[in-house]
Amino acid sequence: MDIRRLSITGLVVLGIAWSAACAAKKPPPPIEPVTEESADAGPEEAEAAPAPKPLYERLGKKEGIAKVVDTFVKNVQPDPRLKGPASFKGLKGEKLEKFKTNMVDFLCKETGGDCMYGGKSMKDLHKNMKITDAMWDAVVEDLKLALTENKVSEDDQKELLEKLGPLKGDIVDPKTVKKK
Ligand code: HEM
Repeated sequence: MDIRRLSITGLVVLGIAWSAACAAKKPPPPIEPVTEESADAGPEEAEAAPAPKPLYERLGKKEGIAKVVDTFVKNVQPDPRLKGPASFKGLKGEKLEKFKTNMVDFLCKETGGDCMYGGKSMKDLHKNMKITDAMWDAVVEDLKLALTENKVSEDDQKELLEKLGPLKGDIVDPKTVKKK
């Protein structure tokens, strides 16, 4: 083998080795970062879900709330657990209409409706009624029954009661709470 053939073969061998080394060093293809969206949602689910309707609308606006309040009145009036000044039995005529209007406006405002509640504060309204813990529970139960009767979903009931829960401190008379 002459020197020229030897060096050509050498160059070819070197060339092959060099390109093999380059191929081995090639940077890996970029990896897409795994985000929460791409990890568990299809492309159509990745779009933001529309904001849920305010509770006021889900309750059927003022009309739906008025139906719930009518049923609520039917439930609380004969309830034997609500006694003395905390009883709804005596509510008739104009007084009953005023109660319903104020209750609807109050619930409308509490649930995100564009309403004005023109009544007294919860504390002032209920301060002389000697409302006990058990009476509070009875009213909550009567309200839940009224919501169920008017086909309000369990989730919407829960949301409403979560909004009303913090009022308990203003409505239950602390003097009626037994000390442990
Ligand atoms: C979240 C709970 C409650 C809310 C939002 C609420 C709200 C109201 C509202 C808006 C009125 C209307 C007052 C008016 O005519 O201007 C009212 C009256 C009244 N509430 Fe409540 N209340 C609650 C709980 C209770 C409880 C637990 C009791 C008794 C156990 C009670 C007993 C009464 C009574 C008897 C009246 C009628 C007062 C009257 O006009 O003679 N309420 N309440």
